[in-house]
Amino acid sequence: MTRRITRWPTAAAAILAVAACGAGQPADRAGELRIETGDAQQLRLGEQLYALHCASCHGAQLEGAPDWRRRLPSGRLPAPPHDASGHTWHHPDWELFAMTKHGVTPLAPPDYETDMPAFGDILSDAEILAVLGYIKAQWPDEIAAIQEDINQRAPPPPDISWR
Ligand code: HEC
Repeated sequence: MTRRITRWPTAAAAILAVAACGAGQPADRAGELRIETGDAQQLRLGEQLYALHCASCHGAQLEGAPDWRRRLPSGRLPAPPHDASGHTWHHPDWELFAMTKHGVTPLAPPDYETDMPAFGDILSDAEILAVLGYIKAQWPDEIAAIQEDINQRAPPPPDISWR
C-alpha cells in the first residue's frame, strides 16, 4: 500500500489563523481537525466500525491485547488499549486521526515495524472520525479533559495532512 503524506495544507493554516482570532476563543492548537463524540447515530456507527475493524486487535472492550506492554517475538508491540489504561488519550486529535488513516509508520522513526494497519483505503475520513469519536466517548471525564488540554497545547501537524 502506498502512503502519500502531503504537506499540511496552506488553506488549513489560514483557517487556523482565523480560528485563533475568534473573540474569546482559546487558540485551537489542534487545527481544524476535531474528533467529536457525536450524537447517538454517529456513536452507533463508530461502535459498529470499531467492532468490525479494531476490536480483533485492540479488544472488544477497548482493553488492548493481552500483556500488551510486552513485545511480541517479532519485536513488534501488541495493540495497546484504547481505554483509560492505555495511551491513546496521550495524543492530540490530529495524531489519532493520522495514525488511524496512515498507520503509525509516518510518525515513527525510520524502519519502525508495526502491526497497526493504515485504514486510509478501508475507511472514509468520516468513518475514521466516527470510530475515534466512539473511542473518545468511552473515556472518563477526567481523562477526556486531560486529552482536551493536550489538544489545546499540541503544535499543529507539521508535515502530515489528515485529509
Ligand atoms: C491487526 C491489528 C490491529 C488492528 C486491526 C487495529 N490496530 Fe491499532 N494498533 C495496533 C498495534 C499493534 C498498535 C501499536 C503500534 C505500535 O506502536 O507499533 C496500534 C496502535 C494504534 C493507535 C496508537 C495508539 C497509541 O497510544 O499510540 C491508534 C490510535 C490505533 N491503533 C487505532 C486503531 C483503530 C481506530 C483501529 C480500527 C479502525 C485499529 N487501530 C485497528 C494493531 C491494530
